[in-house]
Amino acid sequence: MIKVKEIKKDIYMIRVIDKNLSDFHGEVYPVIDGASYAAYLVIGENEIALVDLIDDDYFEIMDGAIKEIIGDRKVDHLIINHVEPDHSGSFELFMSKYPDAKVYTSKAGEKAMQNHYFGTHAYKTVGNNDSIELDDNKTLRFMNTPLVHWPDNMWTYLEQYKILFSNDAFGQLITEDIVSDQEIEQDRLLSYAKEYYANIVQPYNQSVINAVSNFVNMKWEVDLICPSHGIIIDKYKSEMINMYNFHANGNTIEKKAVLTYETMWGNSSIIADAIEKKLIQMGYTVKKYHVSKSRVSEIITDAMDAELFIVGCGNYNDSIMPSISSLTERLKACKLSQRKGLVFGSYGWKKTHLPRLVEKLEEANINIIDQPYFIQYVPSEEEIKLLIEKIDKAL
Ligand code: FEO
Repeated sequence: MIKVKEIKKDIYMIRVIDKNLSDFHGEVYPVIDGASYAAYLVIGENEIALVDLIDDDYFEIMDGAIKEIIGDRKVDHLIINHVEPDHSGSFELFMSKYPDAKVYTSKAGEKAMQNHYFGTHAYKTVGNNDSIELDDNKTLRFMNTPLVHWPDNMWTYLEQYKILFSNDAFGQLITEDIVSDQEIEQDRLLSYAKEYYANIVQPYNQSVINAVSNFVNMKWEVDLICPSHGIIIDKYKSEMINMYNFHANGNTIEKKAVLTYETMWGNSSIIADAIEKKLIQMGYTVKKYHVSKSRVSEIITDAMDAELFIVGCGNYNDSIMPSISSLTERLKACKLSQRKGLVFGSYGWKKTHLPRLVEKLEEANINIIDQPYFIQYVPSEEEIKLLIEKIDKAL
């Protein structure tokens, strides 16, 4: 589905919504509502600019929308805020239709474009405060935002309209047929944006802090934030920026626990239920996940601000069960700020898996605060009682 909207006079959002997409960025970000991609067309009296492209699968419908808007005119300038293929993937298709367009990107973007599209295209590299003018009333200005979340990222600012084209930053995978946050409740907007932050931006928290600081120094006033995923941020700009600040600083929510487990015959599940009950009694808000039955992107989102992360796992011969092993790699890749953790699990006749799980969680910046809690085969009431007493002491 394509959604085209004139968001201000002569400024258009062109948004392609793919509700059938199940994996955003491959397997690392499973989604339930699909995803959307947006490019923005800025029409000056003299010249026209397109801010960002979209994935090549959707280029023809995007180009159809562009042609309906601009008729016989051509796109004179293409801004590549970010090279990742969901934004630049249709570059070659675009250039085949608009061969005279000048292409602007950051210095790191130039290198990344060359590595993706080869050829000898002459890119125009831009840095902080460089600008191009489309007419007397439309100046596009640039700011590098390296590692939010690739080295090439930058933001583009339409000065006279106070519009920030932020690319991935402030994005969300909202796929409803709406244009801006005027049409959605604050909690839903921030929940989608938080999941996007956790899975895409979180490993680069310090870069977010740097970008926000540079942005403040630029003294650019912003009326609209136009990201390249999801909807435009208008009503809840300060709430969105506050949320970014909260997570970029690695803050956690007091008494929030994420309790994850994997089980072969249900024994680690019995222990997980008992731990959940205990944590609730202790005043924790508990998010419990049977990992192989859950969306890992949701677990990562909850892990981002939980003060306590607990993992339970039966053994698979000498090893950790595969879904838990994969989860620990994901946690490591997402570079959580340090938090407390506990490990539990049932076992058959070998119990080497839990010490290995402790190592893997510590590599993921989770500080395991007590010895692993082992129970052999089926947990008895007495064993569960002893385990709960240990948890009481550890917390
Ligand atoms: Fe939406 Fe980093 O790509």
